[in-house]
Amino acid sequence: MSPPLLPGPIGVFDSGYGGLTVCRELEQTLPNYDFVYLGDNARVPYGNRSFSTVYRFTRQCVEALFDMGCHLVILACNTASAKALRSIQQLDLPMGPSHRRVLGVLRPSTEQAGSLTRSGHLGLFATEGTVRSLSYPLEIARFFPGVQLSQQACPLWVPLVEAGELQGDGTHYFVEKYCQALMEQDPMIDAVLLACTHYPLLAPSIAQHLPEGTRVVTQGPLIAEALARYLHRHPHMDMICSKNGHRAYFTTDEPSVFDEKATLFMGRPVRSQGLSLG
Ligand code: DGL
Repeated sequence: MSPPLLPGPIGVFDSGYGGLTVCRELEQTLPNYDFVYLGDNARVPYGNRSFSTVYRFTRQCVEALFDMGCHLVILACNTASAKALRSIQQLDLPMGPSHRRVLGVLRPSTEQAGSLTRSGHLGLFATEGTVRSLSYPLEIARFFPGVQLSQQACPLWVPLVEAGELQGDGTHYFVEKYCQALMEQDPMIDAVLLACTHYPLLAPSIAQHLPEGTRVVTQGPLIAEALARYLHRHPHMDMICSKNGHRAYFTTDEPSVFDEKATLFMGRPVRSQGLSLG
Protein backbone atom coordinates (compact mmCIF):
# COMPACT_ATOMS: atom_id res chain seq x y z
CA MET A 1 0.00 0.00 0.00
CA SER A 2 1.32 3.49 -0.85
CA PRO A 3 1.81 5.90 2.10
CA PRO A 4 -0.94 8.50 2.65
CA LEU A 5 -0.43 11.75 0.75
CA LEU A 6 0.91 14.77 2.59
CA PRO A 7 -1.55 17.65 2.23
CA GLY A 8 -0.20 20.46 0.03
CA PRO A 9 -1.04 24.05 -0.90
CA ILE A 10 -3.33 24.98 -3.79
CA GLY A 11 -1.24 26.23 -6.72
CA VAL A 12 -2.35 29.37 -8.56
CA PHE A 13 -0.70 30.11 -11.88
CA ASP A 14 -0.72 33.10 -14.21
CA SER A 15 1.53 34.41 -16.94
CA GLY A 16 2.26 37.46 -14.76
CA TYR A 17 0.54 39.61 -12.16
CA GLY A 18 -3.02 39.16 -13.42
CA GLY A 19 -3.71 35.97 -11.49
CA LEU A 20 -3.17 37.93 -8.28
CA THR A 21 -6.64 39.42 -8.85
CA VAL A 22 -7.95 35.85 -8.61
CA CYS A 23 -5.57 34.80 -5.82
CA ARG A 24 -6.79 37.71 -3.66
CA GLU A 25 -10.39 36.46 -3.94
CA LEU A 26 -9.36 32.83 -3.30
CA GLU A 27 -7.48 33.87 -0.16
CA GLN A 28 -10.49 35.85 1.08
CA THR A 29 -13.03 33.12 0.36
CA LEU A 30 -10.86 30.25 1.67
CA PRO A 31 -8.70 31.96 4.33
CA ASN A 32 -7.55 28.75 6.05
CA TYR A 33 -6.23 27.09 2.90
CA ASP A 34 -2.57 27.35 1.89
CA PHE A 35 -1.85 28.94 -1.50
CA VAL A 36 1.27 29.12 -3.67
CA TYR A 37 1.22 31.66 -6.50
CA LEU A 38 3.48 31.41 -9.54
CA GLY A 39 3.73 34.27 -12.05
CA ASP A 40 5.69 33.62 -15.22
CA ASN A 41 6.67 37.30 -15.41
CA ALA A 42 9.84 36.48 -17.38
CA ARG A 43 7.75 35.30 -20.36
CA VAL A 44 4.57 37.41 -20.10
CA PRO A 45 2.51 38.14 -22.19
CA TYR A 46 1.11 34.79 -23.32
CA GLY A 47 -1.84 36.42 -25.10
CA ASN A 48 -0.29 36.64 -28.54
CA ARG A 49 1.67 33.34 -28.46
CA SER A 50 0.87 30.14 -30.34
CA PHE A 51 -1.04 27.19 -28.87
CA SER A 52 2.11 25.08 -28.62
CA THR A 53 4.10 27.80 -26.84
CA VAL A 54 1.33 28.57 -24.33
CA TYR A 55 0.95 24.83 -23.70
CA ARG A 56 4.71 24.33 -23.20
CA PHE A 57 5.10 27.32 -20.84
CA THR A 58 1.95 26.46 -18.86
CA ARG A 59 2.93 22.80 -18.50
CA GLN A 60 6.36 23.79 -17.12
CA CYS A 61 4.76 26.08 -14.55
CA VAL A 62 2.18 23.47 -13.53
CA GLU A 63 4.97 20.91 -13.07
CA ALA A 64 6.90 23.40 -10.93
CA LEU A 65 3.81 23.80 -8.70
CA PHE A 66 3.39 20.01 -8.44
CA ASP A 67 7.08 19.81 -7.46
CA MET A 68 6.33 22.27 -4.62
CA GLY A 69 3.81 19.80 -3.22
CA CYS A 70 0.57 21.11 -4.76
CA HIS A 71 -2.01 18.48 -5.68
CA LEU A 72 -4.49 20.96 -7.15
CA VAL A 73 -3.50 23.79 -9.51
CA ILE A 74 -5.74 26.60 -10.73
CA LEU A 75 -4.82 28.19 -14.05
CA ALA A 76 -5.77 31.76 -13.08
CA CYS A 77 -5.11 32.81 -16.65
CA ASN A 78 -7.72 32.74 -19.41
CA THR A 79 -5.15 32.39 -22.16
CA ALA A 80 -3.62 29.31 -20.51
CA SER A 81 -7.08 27.94 -19.70
CA ALA A 82 -8.23 28.41 -23.30
CA LYS A 83 -5.07 27.11 -24.97
CA ALA A 84 -3.39 24.64 -22.61
CA LEU A 85 -5.86 23.25 -20.06
CA ARG A 86 -7.39 20.56 -22.24
CA SER A 87 -3.99 19.22 -23.37
CA ILE A 88 -2.69 19.19 -19.78
CA GLN A 89 -5.81 17.35 -18.59
CA GLN A 90 -5.84 14.86 -21.46
CA LEU A 91 -2.13 14.30 -22.18
CA ASP A 92 -0.13 15.12 -19.04
CA LEU A 93 -2.24 14.39 -15.97
CA PRO A 94 -2.87 10.73 -16.93
CA MET A 95 0.94 10.20 -16.91
CA GLY A 96 1.31 11.32 -13.26
CA PRO A 97 -0.16 10.40 -9.87
CA SER A 98 -3.90 9.92 -10.25
CA HIS A 99 -4.99 12.36 -7.53
CA ARG A 100 -3.61 15.48 -9.27
CA ARG A 101 -6.01 18.02 -10.76
CA VAL A 102 -5.66 21.16 -12.86
CA LEU A 103 -8.66 23.50 -13.20
CA GLY A 104 -9.15 26.59 -15.35
CA VAL A 105 -11.14 29.81 -15.20
CA LEU A 106 -13.40 29.45 -18.23
CA ARG A 107 -16.03 27.14 -16.82
CA PRO A 108 -16.73 29.14 -13.61
CA SER A 109 -17.28 32.20 -15.80
CA THR A 110 -19.26 30.68 -18.66
CA GLU A 111 -21.68 28.83 -16.39
CA GLN A 112 -22.71 32.21 -14.93
CA ALA A 113 -22.92 34.04 -18.27
CA GLY A 114 -26.73 33.90 -18.48
CA SER A 115 -27.21 35.68 -15.15
CA LEU A 116 -24.76 38.49 -15.95
CA THR A 117 -26.84 40.22 -18.64
CA ARG A 118 -30.48 41.35 -18.57
CA SER A 119 -30.67 42.27 -22.27
CA GLY A 120 -29.17 38.91 -23.34
CA HIS A 121 -26.34 40.84 -25.06
CA LEU A 122 -23.02 40.17 -23.38
CA GLY A 123 -19.62 41.68 -24.21
CA LEU A 124 -16.27 40.11 -23.50
CA PHE A 125 -12.77 41.59 -23.35
CA ALA A 126 -9.85 39.17 -23.57
CA THR A 127 -6.42 38.61 -25.07
CA GLU A 128 -6.00 37.91 -28.76
CA GLY A 129 -5.30 34.23 -27.97
CA THR A 130 -8.42 33.74 -25.86
CA VAL A 131 -10.61 35.46 -28.47
CA ARG A 132 -9.17 33.45 -31.35
CA SER A 133 -9.52 30.15 -29.47
CA LEU A 134 -13.34 30.70 -29.58
CA SER A 135 -13.52 28.95 -26.20
CA TYR A 136 -15.94 31.49 -24.71
CA PRO A 137 -18.44 31.64 -27.61
CA LEU A 138 -18.51 27.84 -27.83
CA GLU A 139 -19.02 27.28 -24.08
CA ILE A 140 -21.56 30.09 -23.67
CA ALA A 141 -23.57 28.85 -26.67
CA ARG A 142 -23.70 25.43 -24.99
CA PHE A 143 -24.96 26.72 -21.62
CA PHE A 144 -26.98 29.76 -22.79
CA PRO A 145 -27.93 29.56 -26.48
CA GLY A 146 -30.08 32.71 -26.05
CA VAL A 147 -27.12 34.92 -25.06
CA GLN A 148 -25.55 36.93 -27.87
CA LEU A 149 -21.82 37.27 -27.17
CA SER A 150 -19.48 39.83 -28.77
CA GLN A 151 -15.75 39.46 -28.16
CA GLN A 152 -13.10 42.18 -28.30
CA ALA A 153 -9.37 41.45 -28.18
CA CYS A 154 -7.36 44.05 -26.26
CA PRO A 155 -3.71 43.28 -27.07
CA LEU A 156 -2.28 46.35 -25.33
CA TRP A 157 -4.01 46.06 -21.97
CA VAL A 158 -1.78 43.32 -20.50
CA PRO A 159 1.48 45.18 -21.25
CA LEU A 160 -0.04 48.33 -19.69
CA VAL A 161 -1.04 46.44 -16.53
CA GLU A 162 2.32 44.64 -16.31
CA ALA A 163 4.01 48.04 -16.55
CA GLY A 164 1.78 49.38 -13.74
CA GLU A 165 0.26 51.97 -16.13
CA LEU A 166 -3.30 51.92 -14.81
CA GLN A 167 -4.06 55.62 -15.36
CA GLY A 168 -2.86 58.39 -17.63
CA ASP A 169 -3.66 59.59 -21.14
CA GLY A 170 -2.02 56.67 -22.97
CA THR A 171 -3.93 54.08 -20.94
CA HIS A 172 -7.23 55.95 -21.31
CA TYR A 173 -6.69 56.13 -25.07
CA PHE A 174 -6.35 52.35 -25.41
CA VAL A 175 -9.17 51.61 -22.96
CA GLU A 176 -11.51 53.91 -24.87
CA LYS A 177 -10.44 52.42 -28.22
CA TYR A 178 -11.37 48.83 -27.29
CA CYS A 179 -14.54 49.85 -25.41
CA GLN A 180 -15.76 51.70 -28.50
CA ALA A 181 -14.87 48.78 -30.76
CA LEU A 182 -16.90 46.41 -28.56
CA MET A 183 -19.97 48.66 -28.40
CA GLU A 184 -19.84 49.14 -32.17
CA GLN A 185 -20.20 45.37 -32.56
CA ASP A 186 -23.41 45.39 -30.48
CA PRO A 187 -24.91 48.54 -28.94
CA MET A 188 -27.38 46.40 -26.92
CA ILE A 189 -24.62 45.05 -24.64
CA ASP A 190 -25.52 45.72 -21.00
CA ALA A 191 -22.75 43.68 -19.30
CA VAL A 192 -19.11 42.96 -20.10
CA LEU A 193 -17.01 40.12 -18.76
CA LEU A 194 -13.33 40.86 -18.16
CA ALA A 195 -12.07 37.50 -19.43
CA CYS A 196 -8.43 38.20 -18.70
CA THR A 197 -7.22 38.19 -15.14
CA HIS A 198 -5.10 41.31 -15.72
CA TYR A 199 -8.06 43.49 -16.69
CA PRO A 200 -9.70 44.03 -13.25
CA LEU A 201 -6.86 46.47 -12.58
CA LEU A 202 -8.27 48.59 -15.42
CA ALA A 203 -11.92 48.14 -14.36
CA PRO A 204 -12.51 51.73 -13.14
CA SER A 205 -11.23 53.11 -16.44
CA ILE A 206 -13.19 50.52 -18.46
CA ALA A 207 -16.42 51.44 -16.64
CA GLN A 208 -15.80 55.10 -17.47
CA HIS A 209 -15.58 54.39 -21.19
CA LEU A 210 -18.68 52.19 -21.50
CA PRO A 211 -22.28 53.49 -21.64
CA GLU A 212 -23.56 54.39 -18.18
CA GLY A 213 -25.09 51.46 -16.32
CA THR A 214 -23.09 48.79 -18.18
CA ARG A 215 -22.15 46.05 -15.74
CA VAL A 216 -18.41 45.29 -15.60
CA VAL A 217 -17.91 41.74 -14.33
CA THR A 218 -14.58 40.57 -12.89
CA GLN A 219 -13.85 36.85 -12.63
CA GLY A 220 -12.19 36.63 -9.19
CA PRO A 221 -15.39 36.20 -7.15
CA LEU A 222 -16.85 33.71 -9.70
CA ILE A 223 -13.69 31.58 -9.55
CA ALA A 224 -13.44 31.70 -5.75
CA GLU A 225 -17.07 30.57 -5.37
CA ALA A 226 -16.56 27.81 -7.94
CA LEU A 227 -13.46 26.53 -6.12
CA ALA A 228 -15.28 26.49 -2.78
CA ARG A 229 -18.09 24.46 -4.41
CA TYR A 230 -15.55 22.13 -6.06
CA LEU A 231 -13.79 21.39 -2.74
CA HIS A 232 -17.16 20.76 -1.11
CA ARG A 233 -18.12 18.32 -3.88
CA HIS A 234 -14.70 16.58 -3.80
CA PRO A 235 -13.90 15.79 -0.15
CA HIS A 236 -10.94 13.61 -1.20
CA MET A 237 -9.28 16.61 -2.82
CA ASP A 238 -10.26 18.87 0.06
CA MET A 239 -8.58 16.46 2.49
CA ILE A 240 -5.22 16.78 0.72
CA CYS A 241 -5.30 20.60 0.60
CA SER A 242 -3.29 21.89 3.56
CA LYS A 243 -5.00 24.45 5.78
CA ASN A 244 -2.57 26.59 7.77
CA GLY A 245 -3.37 29.94 6.15
CA HIS A 246 0.10 30.02 4.51
CA ARG A 247 0.78 32.05 1.37
CA ALA A 248 3.87 31.92 -0.84
CA TYR A 249 4.59 33.80 -4.07
CA PHE A 250 7.04 32.84 -6.80
CA THR A 251 8.04 34.69 -9.93
CA THR A 252 10.18 33.58 -12.86
CA ASP A 253 11.57 37.14 -13.03
CA GLU A 254 13.09 39.54 -10.49
CA PRO A 255 11.44 39.14 -7.02
CA SER A 256 12.04 42.75 -5.90
CA VAL A 257 10.16 44.07 -8.95
CA PHE A 258 7.39 41.49 -8.45
CA ASP A 259 7.04 42.50 -4.78
CA GLU A 260 6.66 46.16 -5.58
CA LYS A 261 3.84 45.61 -8.08
CA ALA A 262 2.21 42.66 -6.28
CA THR A 263 1.95 44.78 -3.13
CA LEU A 264 -0.09 47.28 -5.15
CA PHE A 265 -2.30 44.57 -6.67
CA MET A 266 -2.91 42.75 -3.37
CA GLY A 267 -3.23 45.88 -1.21
CA ARG A 268 -0.75 44.46 1.32
CA PRO A 269 2.97 43.67 1.38
CA VAL A 270 4.00 40.66 -0.73
CA ARG A 271 7.40 38.95 -0.47
CA SER A 272 8.15 36.66 -3.39
CA GLN A 273 10.93 34.23 -4.26
CA GLY A 274 12.54 33.79 -7.65
CA LEU A 275 12.05 30.53 -9.52
CA SER A 276 14.13 29.40 -12.45
CA LEU A 277 12.34 26.97 -14.76
CA GLY A 278 15.66 25.67 -16.12
N1 DGL B 1 -3.82 37.09 -17.49
C1 DGL B 1 -3.90 36.31 -18.65
C2 DGL B 1 -5.32 35.98 -19.02
O1 DGL B 1 -6.17 35.89 -18.15
C3 DGL B 1 -3.18 36.70 -19.90
C4 DGL B 1 -2.13 37.67 -19.96
C5 DGL B 1 -1.12 37.42 -21.05
O2 DGL B 1 -1.32 37.83 -22.19
O3 DGL B 1 -0.14 36.81 -20.68
O4 DGL B 1 -5.61 35.78 -20.18
